[in-house]
Amino acid sequence: MTLLALGIETSCDETAAAIVSADRKILSNIVFSQIADHAVHGGVVPEIAARAHLNAINRVVGEALKKASIAFDDLGLIAATAGPGLIGGVMVGLMTGKALSAQLNKPFIGVNHLEGHALSPRLSHDLQFPYLLLLVSGGHSQILLAEDVGKYTLVGSTIDDAAGECFDKSAKLLGLPQPGGPELEKLAKLAKNPARFELPRPLIGKKTLDFSFSGLKTAMREKIDALTVHGNIKRDDAADLAAALQKTIAGHLSDRCKRALEQYPHVTALAAAGGVASNGATRASLEKTAADAGLPFVAPPSALCTDNGAMIAWAGIERFNKGQRDALDIPARPRWPLDQNPVKVSV
Ligand code: KG4
Ligand code: ZN
Repeated sequence: MTLLALGIETSCDETAAAIVSADRKILSNIVFSQIADHAVHGGVVPEIAARAHLNAINRVVGEALKKASIAFDDLGLIAATAGPGLIGGVMVGLMTGKALSAQLNKPFIGVNHLEGHALSPRLSHDLQFPYLLLLVSGGHSQILLAEDVGKYTLVGSTIDDAAGECFDKSAKLLGLPQPGGPELEKLAKLAKNPARFELPRPLIGKKTLDFSFSGLKTAMREKIDALTVHGNIKRDDAADLAAALQKTIAGHLSDRCKRALEQYPHVTALAAAGGVASNGATRASLEKTAADAGLPFVAPPSALCTDNGAMIAWAGIERFNKGQRDALDIPARPRWPLDQNPVKVSV
């Protein structure tokens, strides 16, 4: 029988668990969002997140098994996020995974959350190495050359904020709930005049593969201030602005990927992962960039782009298939770059 892996994800504000098979079938993918717990504070509070993970983890793991119609004994592998992320939350998931591994006497893999995202396109698609990966989430904006499991070269990253942060902070300025990215995308769809506003294109003309988003956030703030009357911005104005921001971010991400593809023409595909990769405008723009370079564009469906346990189970399976196992003393790591020795290759 094919190997079945349990994947546990608790690095931010989603308590998630999934059962995935070595032949790429997702038997269950349970994601419990803590958004409601954090909403009153306007952002994720680490202590609240850790406690909420603790309250939810047993139920979420139980649901993942139940939905997959399997028992603990059917598992061949336990994988849990070991970092990077909010350390209290990471510890809850990691300790749960280790405890299950010890009790059930099953092999354990502590997964780098970023590797979970990086390999997620190989779970959803038959994607071969090497591929260029745009990893865009709430905390990261990177272009990586993925050459093998565990072999990632950082070729571009943000010099300030992450793309998701820019979506989230701009959404907040527009009075939208968090996480702001999907809300801003919904608002942008209502735009009557999406071409009305022009926002500055970051690092335009610069030959670097890096990103910058902080200027965009400032430009949004200025435009919103100018359009705000008695503390309110009209829905039509907000929608047109949301469309402008989405278009500019998508353009910036694609522009850097275009340059990266010029520098790494031997890749099999342009892939995208992470929460922002579920943005429709970004996907459409990246698809065109890849097509212009004669390459396929590969991105997992939305539910596998945002944080989930399936990508952690899958990264565990990929490492397991390489003969790797982790000892139960593997630490929880708040910081854990995918490329441990990044070389500045931008020109
Ligand atoms: O990968 P992810 O779920 O968590 C992290 O590892 O950070 O990414 C979350 C980020 C948030 O900033 C969220 O607003 C953004 O991804 N995001 C989106 C969309 N869905 C999620 N941004 C733009 N459009 C979306 N549809
Ligand atoms: Zn993530």
